[in-house]
Amino acid sequence: MSWDLEKIKTDIAADVQAAGALDALEAVRLKYLGKKGLVPEMYAGLGSASAEEKKALGKGANDIKVLAETLIAERKAALALSAKKAEALDVTLPGVQRGLGSRHLIDQTIDEICEVFQNMGFVIQRGPEIESEFYNFSALNIPLDHPSRDSFDTFYLDAKDPDAVGRHLLLRSHTSPGQVRVMQKNKPPLAVIIPGKVYRPDAVDASHSFMFHQIEGLLVNRNVTFADLKGLLTAFCKKYFGADVKMRFRPHFFPFTEPSAEVDIQSNIFKGRAGKWLEILGCGMVHPKVFAAAGYSAGDLAGSTEASSGTLSGFAFGMGVERIAMLKHGIGDIRTFVENDVRFLKQF
Ligand code: DAH
Repeated sequence: MSWDLEKIKTDIAADVQAAGALDALEAVRLKYLGKKGLVPEMYAGLGSASAEEKKALGKGANDIKVLAETLIAERKAALALSAKKAEALDVTLPGVQRGLGSRHLIDQTIDEICEVFQNMGFVIQRGPEIESEFYNFSALNIPLDHPSRDSFDTFYLDAKDPDAVGRHLLLRSHTSPGQVRVMQKNKPPLAVIIPGKVYRPDAVDASHSFMFHQIEGLLVNRNVTFADLKGLLTAFCKKYFGADVKMRFRPHFFPFTEPSAEVDIQSNIFKGRAGKWLEILGCGMVHPKVFAAAGYSAGDLAGSTEASSGTLSGFAFGMGVERIAMLKHGIGDIRTFVENDVRFLKQF
């Protein structure tokens, strides 16, 4: 008996390749290697062969057996791999849900506060975080020997001020320099609100941070009085802290306003602080030296025909955003704003 070994080999290869799934491959295995398959049949034929033939036929049967086993095993592995890949691409699986972030509480608070003032006609302006000594201090009537100019209270940069010999740039320690910048660029009357980051080298603890946010306000017109300032801040506090808010204006000193006051309030929305006076902002009438530093004079009032009948005057105020957000939401530690813990952030 003789077998066409080459044809069998091509048949096996073709059958294996045609098997597109594991059950079809099993049928191919049975066809060649099963009990009634071709390979056992080849071995069975050896019995009737002569000793001479036996050797050649035996080798042929062995070759076919090894080839069939090898090709079937390879195909099996390939089919398993593509099954796995198909599984990995299962488009019916539910997608990965990525949590949507939210606006940071500080940004929300800035927006809310600014909105109250915007509804009263104030316009949002922004100043640079890197400032000069002129804007941060001198223009605000803060003298050269004032303690806040000391490097302990201000972050000075290792960068010279291109506009002032021997002076260094700094990170603004309040938003008040924005007042001067706005006045230099705009003639009165004006009403602006200036939100932004400020920096101070304070030791960090539950209520102090080296960076926090302030909102500055400035209104300049003719014949502006402290009563106007009081009226505006009262309207703001009622709107923002509730109609039953209690306020007190406590005399204070700021170099850039005269007279100056700090405002304390009692509000029912401050959790656990009922009946306590809490300071929320500083304010006052713009100091004439600040107008002078900004280059303002009485004649700058728009429609200056009337200017002679009115005095250039204005008021300013500044509040800390973190403090207000902490009071409003009962937050006990300023550091939670920058720790980026989503369990904290997503509450607001
Ligand atoms: N700049 C002051 C501070 O950082 C806050 C302040 C007080 C701003 C009185 C003002 C003001 O505009 O009139 O402590």
